[in-house]
Amino acid sequence: MLNIAVVGAGRIGAIHAANVAASPDANLAWVCDPVPGAADKLSHLGGRVGLDARQAIASDDVDAVVIGSPTPTHVELILAAVEAGKAVLCEKPVDLDLARARQCQAAVEAAGGRVMIGFNRRFDPTFAEVHARLQSGEIGQLEQLTIVSRDPAAPPASYVAVSGGIFRDMTIHDFDMAHFFLGEVESVQAVGQNVVDPAIAEVGDSDAAVVVLKAKSGAVATIINNRRCAYGYDQRLEAFASAGMLEARNQHATSAAVSTATLSGAANRVQDFFLQRYADAYRLELAAFVKAVAEGGPFSPSLADGVTALALADAALESSKSGQTVLL
Ligand SMILES: NC(=O)c1ccc[n+]([C@@H]2O[C@H](COP(=O)([O-])OP(=O)(O)OC[C@H]3O[C@@H](n4cnc5c(N)ncnc54)[C@H](O)[C@@H]3O)[C@@H](O)[C@H]2O)c1
Repeated sequence: MLNIAVVGAGRIGAIHAANVAASPDANLAWVCDPVPGAADKLSHLGGRVGLDARQAIASDDVDAVVIGSPTPTHVELILAAVEAGKAVLCEKPVDLDLARARQCQAAVEAAGGRVMIGFNRRFDPTFAEVHARLQSGEIGQLEQLTIVSRDPAAPPASYVAVSGGIFRDMTIHDFDMAHFFLGEVESVQAVGQNVVDPAIAEVGDSDAAVVVLKAKSGAVATIINNRRCAYGYDQRLEAFASAGMLEARNQHATSAAVSTATLSGAANRVQDFFLQRYADAYRLELAAFVKAVAEGGPFSPSLADGVTALALADAALESSKSGQTVLL
């Protein structure tokens, strides 16, 4: 039984805490959040609640730490946990600053630390099946990967202003998926758009983007992002290869479909947002982390994968500003 402290009791921390509590192989030892009352909201899940993450990290009754606090706290908490000899599952992105993320990676490697990054989409059963079947050779050699990732509604500009921008905050998931499918990427071209909220343009960010990544293998990935989507959380992926194609389509709460005088086989609206769409993925991500800690197996996605995704985000930002292809 792995004793886990969950750090951060916000949107994602609540999901991780619930998954730890429900896991047959893990025990929710602590939930920590510096905002008084925040961790208490999760006290029904069991475990101790605290204000200071460092107290939980240092505690002898904690084997592993799940970091779900805001991005600027990740590096400090990763290093504290590794120093205390604890395994870590940390939310994306590692940091907003690539140099700082790389320093963190070097320090963790020097200390022999074990850190997994929460790129939950790798664990989505449909995406994972597409990846596994592609790897098995069923559709031949990958030539073109298309990732469509659109949020239902844009966050407030106040959030965007401190988020690191669309590439580090939103596209980061897609960069990891592209890297997961394509392997090493050698060039990035990106175009940013402002089509959703003028306030996002005012804080200097794009609210939609298209990114083209070319891999060493010759395969090319296209990522299509938008901060707003009228029909819900649009999450699709297509792998086109020499002998066929694999698709991950949008998901709906149920598979009911209606046909009327004006509609044929119309499905319900696609799932609302990440909490619903990736509920299974978060659970399976946690299970993979617990298994890797218990068995001493590789941590995947690794901290290095987290740094790679951030490097791709920085390259996309540079390309969107310069209009040039950025070579990695
Ligand atoms: N993988 C995903 O799908 C996904 C989804 C949402 C958020 N995230 C990531 O998770 C992180 C948190 O995002 P969120 O949306 O849950 O934010 P949130 O604001 O809802 O929650 C963050 C919580 O962390 C607490 N906190 C602040 N400093 C802390 C510290 N030093 N120690 C412990 N807790 C601290 C805050 O009080 C807050 O309750 C971000 O890095 C974000 O990028 C990932």
